[in-house]
Amino acid sequence: MKITNLETTAQSLVADGKGILAADETPSTMTKRLDARSVESTSESRRAYREMFFTTPGIAEFISGVILQEETIRQKGSKGISLPDLLTKQGILPGIKVDSGAKPMAGCPGETITEGLDGLRDRLKAYFGMGARFAKWRAVIAVGDTLPSAASVQANAHALARYAVLCQEQSVVPIVEPEVLMDGSHTIERCEEVTGQVLHAVFDALFDQKVLLEAILLKPNMVIAGQACPKQASANEVAAATLRCLGRHVPAAVPGIVFLSGGQDHLAATMHLSVINQLEGPKPWKLSFSYGRALQDEALKIWRGKSANLKAGQQAFYHRAKCDSAAALGRYNPAMEGGSPRA
Ligand code: 13P
Repeated sequence: MKITNLETTAQSLVADGKGILAADETPSTMTKRLDARSVESTSESRRAYREMFFTTPGIAEFISGVILQEETIRQKGSKGISLPDLLTKQGILPGIKVDSGAKPMAGCPGETITEGLDGLRDRLKAYFGMGARFAKWRAVIAVGDTLPSAASVQANAHALARYAVLCQEQSVVPIVEPEVLMDGSHTIERCEEVTGQVLHAVFDALFDQKVLLEAILLKPNMVIAGQACPKQASANEVAAATLRCLGRHVPAAVPGIVFLSGGQDHLAATMHLSVINQLEGPKPWKLSFSYGRALQDEALKIWRGKSANLKAGQQAFYHRAKCDSAAALGRYNPAMEGGSPRA
């Protein structure tokens, strides 16, 4: 079978020891993160913040792609080079978040449907012209005693599949992200059940919409107890449940699975990924990361909007990316944290 450019792109995003930086927070989410560190959120401070990550020396060793956002993909760095070009010059692929957010779903109290399909073909054409070679769409699934509803799972799976097939038509690799939230007091067993249902619905929809599975990446949550669950699972339990769930529901044709961090502490996100990769058992896909908070938070704590802290922030990011890269190879050891810069 002929390997398409799309397949090559998808494979390159999960090259050995490499993963993705999710830097696609909307201005309003970014404002919350910056406010929490007493940094005023302006288009200029958001640009400076993103540039800190994108110009970290040597980062292309660990980062294959960066997911940008509508504002960021159009911005220029301090030396006048567009931010996507700054990445491309280092061999890092620019990607773009193309959904327009999770909105309250009519008829389904407490649940959301991700919007953004209208006009998507034209937006993808424009983003491709700006250098984007992959995209992201995030569906959000809440867990409760009676949630998720079948209606929300089906509608979100259908939208993910319509998005994915449009991306492939426009030569863009879709990252398919169905996120089962960690919010709540549900057990790890309940997370596994819901994540399995959701993945099943998503792959049914991808199949129905004729999405080429060889040219997507899946971005799921790990199988983990809810944040408020009194019984938190060990790293081995998380890894075993995650791998079992993925093995049951993700076809082997998919080249890579890049986890979101979803609110896990950065050390837990690294450890879990490493243990998942260390476990015995069939792993037909690459297992790597597409972390947002778990890659950025330590650097943000140090940077605090001050150019004098830029280098230290970059060192913290470099260190985190190095640890996550080791985890993607199943070689992370907490002793690696020894020399890490602290906020
Ligand atoms: P987190 O790793 O912070 O969950 O962000 C990843 C992401 O892209 C969520 O859509």
